[in-house]
Parts: sequence; structure tokens; C-alpha cells
Amino acid sequence: MLNKNKYNFDEKINRKGTNCAKYDGLKRYFGYEDLNPLWVADMDFKTPSFINDEIIKAAKNSTYGYSIDSDALYQSIISWQDKRHNWKIQQEDIYMINGVVPAYSACIEAYSDINDEVIVQTPVYPPLFKCIKANNRKVVINELKEENGYYTMDLKDLKSKITDKTKILCLCSPHNPVGRVWDKEELEELAEICIENNIMIVSDEIHSDVTFKKFTPLASISEKIANITITLNSAGKTFNIAGLNCAYAISKNKKILDKFKIIAQKREIHSINFFGYISTKAAYEDGAEFVDELKKYLQENILFTKSYLLKNCPNITFMLPEATYLLWLNFKMTSLKHEEIKNRLLTKSKVALNDGVSFSSNAKSYFRLNVALSKDALEEALADISKSFQ
Ligand SMILES: Cc1ncc(COP(=O)(O)O)c(C=O)c1O
Repeated sequence: MLNKNKYNFDEKINRKGTNCAKYDGLKRYFGYEDLNPLWVADMDFKTPSFINDEIIKAAKNSTYGYSIDSDALYQSIISWQDKRHNWKIQQEDIYMINGVVPAYSACIEAYSDINDEVIVQTPVYPPLFKCIKANNRKVVINELKEENGYYTMDLKDLKSKITDKTKILCLCSPHNPVGRVWDKEELEELAEICIENNIMIVSDEIHSDVTFKKFTPLASISEKIANITITLNSAGKTFNIAGLNCAYAISKNKKILDKFKIIAQKREIHSINFFGYISTKAAYEDGAEFVDELKKYLQENILFTKSYLLKNCPNITFMLPEATYLLWLNFKMTSLKHEEIKNRLLTKSKVALNDGVSFSSNAKSYFRLNVALSKDALEEALADISKSFQ
């Protein structure tokens, strides 16, 4: 039968020895070299040719001097946000930066003072904690509520944590690692609390394109909400170009964006890799079909993982994510201690998964599994994981 798909996600690619953190960083980050890397959020799929061809074309010119943004780049972002998420933005709302994490850190400095409080909704993407602490601000935890594996926001707890010193709430939308795509109503309720209490929202929407239900950009909901929001995004996760260091901040509130620009310029995070501009523009101009096919493949991998574990290792459970290729695996039914689970994964299964405790000190017995790899490779990995938890 003819393969009707344009992109071949079944192709195995060799990433070892390419200065790739996911593979070549195993010894450094996990202590062992011979692990199957199923951790950091990048995909074992080739970056699509409509991006790669542009990179090669540019490289053929054999010059890599300083680069500059173009109107066409902004247009590609504007058009992508409109077509994919029905969000209308303009060029003056956007500011290019070299990564979402550097932008997080700049936001903390821009919108709060030393010893102020910044709220995070745990379990959450770990670099956030570091960004807040390194800027000498206090991390305030608003833990998500979990019921039968499904996570929701605990707004009662959130209200109880707000003080005069609370200046920022960091929203992860969609949420890494619990895989939620927040509903419009949930976002409205959250924003209402922030508006009432003069709290800025930094909305990290880097996973917004790999979503399996309708995604609502926070700032698209209303003018009132846009007025307290800065959104951070990048094509890095969706198109496997995270190593090219190109991201962007969006705010419709000029004062908010201007404050951000001042700090971004002070920290020199606004000058972007030569290939960053090229790849981001190509991704957003030509990437719609790729993303649609990618999402289908990932959904199949997710469902395959669900049925595989149910059949072969029902002690490991997870809730089907509404976004991302990251599964928040729950090992509680193994009745093993966290350190023992970790030890078995590393020394018996020989796989590298992200440790749940790095996302929240309360996430013992959780590990994050990346399923953005070929189906065959995924099946092998699941067999290796399962054999240690029978
Ligand atoms: C929620 C979230 N934000 C930010 C990042 C990293 O963004 P960047 O590579 O642009 O710094 C990641 C990477 O995994 C992520 O999952």
C-alpha cells in the first residue's frame, strides 16, 4: 500500500556523536553512557526538509556574520498564530529572543523586585525554579490537583498563597509535564484572580502546536487578560530546532513589552543565531502539513504506549495527555520506593527518563517519558521498561 504521508516518522536516525545533549549527554546527566535516551523534550525525527533546505541554502553562501530580523519573519509568526490558534497579533507586539528559558529569567527581573514572590504550578518544567531563585525571588508553589491522573488548577490554594509581594504567575500552557491543555474557562478564572491582585502572567506556550484538543492562547481571550500577559513561544519543540536558539515574546501591552525589552537588551539575549531566524521563518511559513502529520503519529505512539503498558506492565499508568509527546508515568502501583524505581530504570531497563522529583518534590514515583521516536524504537523501549516492573 502506498504511504500517503509526506513525512516519514518511522525513519531511524543516528544522533550519537553529533553533540546532541539527549544522546551525548547521557554520561554527564545520568552517570551511564549505555542508556536509551527517552528524556529531554526533543524528538528523534529529522527536522523537515522545508527547514533544512533553507539552512543548507544559507550555508552554501559560506558566510555566517551577524544576522538581522526581517518583516517576513514577523509575518510568518503573525500568520501562524492567526491560522493555527485564531490569535490576532501585530509586528509591534513581538520581540525576538534567543530562548524561552532566558526570556523567563528576563521576565522575573522585569516584573518583580528582589525578594518578591513568583507563583509556579507544580509539577512543572524544572528550569523555572532556577530562573526565579537565581534572580533572588521567592518560589511560591501552587500545586496542581490530581484526581485519577487528571490535573486541574487549585485556585483556592492559589488565592491563599497571594501576598503583597506576589508579582508574577508563571503559567505553563499547555502544561509540561502533566499534558493539560487548559480550557478557556479555566484560564479565565485564573486570569481573573491575577487581575484582581495585580499579578502579571508569564504564559509559556512553547508546546501550543502539539495539542490534541483546542488550544486557547491566554492573551487571545480578552483585552483585559492580554493587558496583564506576556507570552513566550518558539518553534523549537514542534520542529526539532531547539538547538538553533530562536524564540519570541508577545505582549499587546506596550508597557509590559517595553519593560521586557529593556531587560532583554541589558542581558544581551536579543541577538539571535543566524540559522535561528531562517529556521523559524521556514517552519511557520511551510510547517502546517508537517505539524498535522506529526500530531497524528504522536497520538498513535501515545495510544500504543497506553495499550502496551496495560497489557504488559499495568503497574505503570498515565493519563492520556491533551498535548505534547511527554508522558507523565506513574509508578505508584509498583509499590517500590522512588530511588528503587530510578535505579531499575537506569541499571536494568537501561533507559533515561526525566525524574519526577525535578518537577516537584512531591512527585515521587513519577518519571517523564518522551515518545517522539519511531514506533519500532518505542516498542523496544517499552519492552525494556516493562521487564523491570513485572
Ligand atoms: C515548558 C517549556 N518551556 C521552555 C522550554 C525550553 O525553551 P527554550 O529551549 O526556548 O529555552 C521547554 C523545553 O523543554 C519546555 O518544555
